[in-house]
Amino acid sequence: MHHPLWEERDYFVNSKAHSAPGFYAALATAGYIDTKEIKTLRKLGSRLQGHPVRYSERQKDHSFPGIEYSGGSEGIGLSVSIGIALAKKRDGQKNRVYTLIGDGESNEGQIWEAAMAASKFKLDNLVAILDRNKIQQDGFTEEIMPLDPVRDKWAAFNWNVVEVNGHKIEQIIDALSRVERVEDKPSIIIANTTKGKGIKHMANNPQWHGKAPPKKHVPILLEELQSEILIAPSIIAGEPENYEEKVRRAERAGADLIHLDIMDGKFVPTTSFFADTIKHLRKISSIPFDAHLMIEKPINHVEDYIDAGCDIITVHVEACSEAEFVEINKMILKAGISPGIAINPGTQFPSWIIEHLDNIDIMIIMSVNPGFAGQKFIPDTLDKMAEIVKTLKSNNYKGFIEADGGIDAATLQQVFDAGARIMVAGNAVYGSPDINSNIIQLRHKANVAIETKLLELATINDMRSDWIKSRKNMLIPLAKELSIEEDLHAIK
Ligand code: DX5
Ligand code: ZN
Repeated sequence: MHHPLWEERDYFVNSKAHSAPGFYAALATAGYIDTKEIKTLRKLGSRLQGHPVRYSERQKDHSFPGIEYSGGSEGIGLSVSIGIALAKKRDGQKNRVYTLIGDGESNEGQIWEAAMAASKFKLDNLVAILDRNKIQQDGFTEEIMPLDPVRDKWAAFNWNVVEVNGHKIEQIIDALSRVERVEDKPSIIIANTTKGKGIKHMANNPQWHGKAPPKKHVPILLEELQSEILIAPSIIAGEPENYEEKVRRAERAGADLIHLDIMDGKFVPTTSFFADTIKHLRKISSIPFDAHLMIEKPINHVEDYIDAGCDIITVHVEACSEAEFVEINKMILKAGISPGIAINPGTQFPSWIIEHLDNIDIMIIMSVNPGFAGQKFIPDTLDKMAEIVKTLKSNNYKGFIEADGGIDAATLQQVFDAGARIMVAGNAVYGSPDINSNIIQLRHKANVAIETKLLELATINDMRSDWIKSRKNMLIPLAKELSIEEDLHAIK
């Protein structure tokens, strides 16, 4: 992003150019333009045109460096990418070319001409990413022009095919590094996605293709986007050890993270497992690992957890000084991992943390005294959590609040209302054999918590029935828990 015209850069071609708003938002987040410029989208004289314009000196008023391709008509971007990849390969240059294509766009014959050409020229420096959301224009792809079996199609065109959950960044990163090692073949990453994910009544609903929601709903929708709840099963709970099986079952049951409680028998009275165990678990799963270090002198050990493949590493404020925390934080950030800090129930929130909020992604506010799973939730920690969240918000904290200790179907909504978005669950997940339905039950409670909050917001903004109407289908199953039977009846 500092040198967008650098000769040796990799190229990103957004062939599904109608996704321009998302594309510009990604480029702004990456620093290619100031985020303020996003507001000029599609305005006369803006560099952010409705469909992106390839940057050149001549087009500098309608584009900006970083845009490699003028998109519009569908089905062309892959061919342009082949041109770039072939030229670079013939010139002996190492640039790689990445192309985002759509599944509706794949109705275009040119996509398949390009597919043949890319494998003919053995373009192993070319990676296509298929945004497989199964929706195009005003309907579902499989009704309009069936694309499946899409995997087999690309394999038959002699491409290397990888399939991922397009909403799991760790799977995308893993796939991108794997295809880099493929030789003599172009690769395609089929990213299974849900269009409109994050807003329940718009998700996977063709009627929202290319359509903006009513302006008055925006505050509630933004709240919903901030309200996503992540479930992190804690594998020390339940039967002793058997960590591999616990990780596999949690991943299959749709957990978002795995919570790893590292206990050294000194900072807390019990001992659990260490970096070597995590290294082993890392080989069997790509799910993000959320390491909670309950150890003394974490500064002496943090490198081991970085090497073990953790995605988040949280240390206790009680186990390190500010200076040590700063050192630990630097090491974790340098490794591209998310740093966190944890606070015990009896510990006052130390003001020095405010200084470092920009470098903290996770704040664990313990709701039990650390050391064991299966303990009772300490209700007093709720007010403390709400207090800390207020302080953090007023200091522009952008990270997550993680609730840890005694989180279950009864306490989840309370910590959600207090501000937590990552829910560690030990006993609630592994305390009884059916892990699948345990996680489903927590998700259900999470859903009720979110819908309750959004309903409150709609009521405050005087649009309760309008909101219930627009969201009717997903609220009906929750009518009793949300006490909206009368509202639903009234809008019939
Ligand atoms: C306690 C740990 C927690 C614990 C959670 O020290 O940090 O992560 O394992 O287990 P439950 O949900 O059973 O309290
Ligand atoms: Zn924990």
